[in-house]
Amino acid sequence: MAIPDAGTPPVHVGFGSMWVPKGNTRVAVEAIHAQGCRAPISRGWVDLAFCPSIPGGCPTVALMLDYDAEAAAYDATRGGVPRAEAAARALLGLVPESARTLLDIGCGTGLVTERMALARPALRVLGTDASYGMARFARQRIGAVALADARRLPLPAAAVDAVGTVWLLHLLRGAGDVRAVVSEAGRVLRPGGVFVTTVDKDAAHDVGSDIDELFAPYLRPSPSDPEELVVAYGAEAGLDVVGENRFLGHGQGRTPQRAAREVRAGHFVSRLELPGAAADDLAAALLALPEPDRPRREPEYRLLAFRRRG
Ligand SMILES: C[S@@+](CC[C@H](N)C(=O)[O-])C[C@H]1O[C@@H](n2cnc3c(N)ncnc32)[C@H](O)[C@@H]1O
Repeated sequence: MAIPDAGTPPVHVGFGSMWVPKGNTRVAVEAIHAQGCRAPISRGWVDLAFCPSIPGGCPTVALMLDYDAEAAAYDATRGGVPRAEAAARALLGLVPESARTLLDIGCGTGLVTERMALARPALRVLGTDASYGMARFARQRIGAVALADARRLPLPAAAVDAVGTVWLLHLLRGAGDVRAVVSEAGRVLRPGGVFVTTVDKDAAHDVGSDIDELFAPYLRPSPSDPEELVVAYGAEAGLDVVGENRFLGHGQGRTPQRAAREVRAGHFVSRLELPGAAADDLAAALLALPEPDRPRREPEYRLLAFRRRG
């Protein structure tokens, strides 16, 4: 980042793509401004939105887990091969056998992508992800992986027969992000090609357990990936709904202990709003539940399939 030499020395605050509780960035910038210093702010790949009420801008982070930091533990904590296989099978169940190329957007470590490639040897499977840490693993698994933002894919129009996004749209909280990703999926699909995506992902986690009862007061009022919104964006992008499927979240049935740990680590940022000390309060309440090491029911996730018009 280039910082002009003139003027008072600046104080740089780098939040990268880490989870920053709401308001912390404002406090940091106000404190720097109070000292008469400038506050240059770098925008991580999760993007920062600027609040115009503070001169120089106050950033707020579009909340997302730091997937670079998460990468090494990702597979083991997201149901490993059984979950990936279930997701791959359900997704491929919506992709015609005639498809020859499939792009997995937000492929993460490539666990699901690899299962798709193994299940359909005639299908050329490509992946993209914005996190270097995640994409590094995917590259070892499937080779053809691009480090790219799903809102601007490095592919020409009508390049592939199928596009998939598994557990991506619910994470995108920036204005226009989900619409941009669905639009990109439509753009890179050839006419007649198929786009398959998870919808209502966070809602699937509500299995009516005692953990869900504790989560209820903190649920975000507006998830990013409700079916009706994704269908509307699909229609704009020339994508019509043609089917749906489900897959079991093997290993995703949480124990209160695991939920408490994950609440503290910021795993639920797309689902829960936890201002101030709320994360600690919620974690303590979770740990006080009976049978804290018994997993509650596993969730079931929904996939919607769209066909590109034309
Ligand atoms: C929950 S993981 C899902 C990974 C994989 N699809 C799976 O099911 O295991 C979400 C992935 O989306 C990626 N991601 C988030 N925002 C993105 C964006 N704007 N562009 C590309 N990838 C993104 C993250 O880096 C992460 O690897």
